[in-house]
Amino acid sequence: MDIEAQKRAAGEAAIEYVEDDAVIGVGTGSTVAYFIDALARMKHRIEGAVSSSDRSTRLLQERGIRVFDLNAVGEIPLYVDGADECDPLRRLIKGGGGALTREKIVAAAAKKFVCIVDAHKCVDVLGRFPLPVEVIPMARSLVAREILQRGGQPVWREGVITDNGNWILDVHGLRIDDPPGLESDWNQIAGVVTVGLFAHRPADVVLVGDGRKF
Ligand code: A5P
Repeated sequence: MDIEAQKRAAGEAAIEYVEDDAVIGVGTGSTVAYFIDALARMKHRIEGAVSSSDRSTRLLQERGIRVFDLNAVGEIPLYVDGADECDPLRRLIKGGGGALTREKIVAAAAKKFVCIVDAHKCVDVLGRFPLPVEVIPMARSLVAREILQRGGQPVWREGVITDNGNWILDVHGLRIDDPPGLESDWNQIAGVVTVGLFAHRPADVVLVGDGRKF
C-alpha cells in the first residue's frame, strides 16, 4: 500500500471513534485532510469541530462543518491528529506542518487522542525527524544557543510564521531516549512557546494506515 493510500486508510479508520452530537477536535496535515473528508460525509451527526490551525479551519468550513472556539466548548471527547513520528508508547513528534502549539492545546483538552499515521512514521526511538520548537521571534537566537548546549542542531524554518505569529526552529541530530524529560527541560527555556514533543500527553490510540492499531 503506498503512503497516500495509508494516509487515507488511517484518516477514514478514525471515524469509528466519532460519537454522535459531539464537538470533535481536529488536527492538521495531509493525513487529517482525509479524516476531514470522511467527517464531512457524516457532518449531520456531529455538532461541529474545534480546529488546531487556520488551514484545518478552512477545510472544515469549506465542507460545511461548524468550527467552535475551544473556550466555548470546554473538554472535548475526541481529538484526531497526525504525527511526524510515533514511538511504541504512542509518544509523538509533531509540528512538521507548523501547527504544534494549537495541536498541543487541543490534545490537552481532549478526553481521547487518536493519532493517525502511515507506517513510515513509526520508529523505536524518536528524533530522526527534526524536532520542531515554536519560539517567540525575539528569543530565536537565545533558544538556539540553549538547544546547541543540549546537543541539538537547530535550524530556523526561515520565512514561516505560525498561526500565533511566532517562528519555528527544527532541531536535528537528536536521539530522544527520555521524551518526557526532554519535553519538560526544553519547556523551561525562556522564549520557547511549545516543544513539538507529545510525551506527557501522548496519543491514547495510534491507527496506522497498514491496519495496525496500538
Ligand atoms: C502539523 O503541525 C503536524 O503536527 C502534523 O500532524 C504532522 O506534520 C503530520 O502531517 P502529515 O499528516 O501531513 O504527514
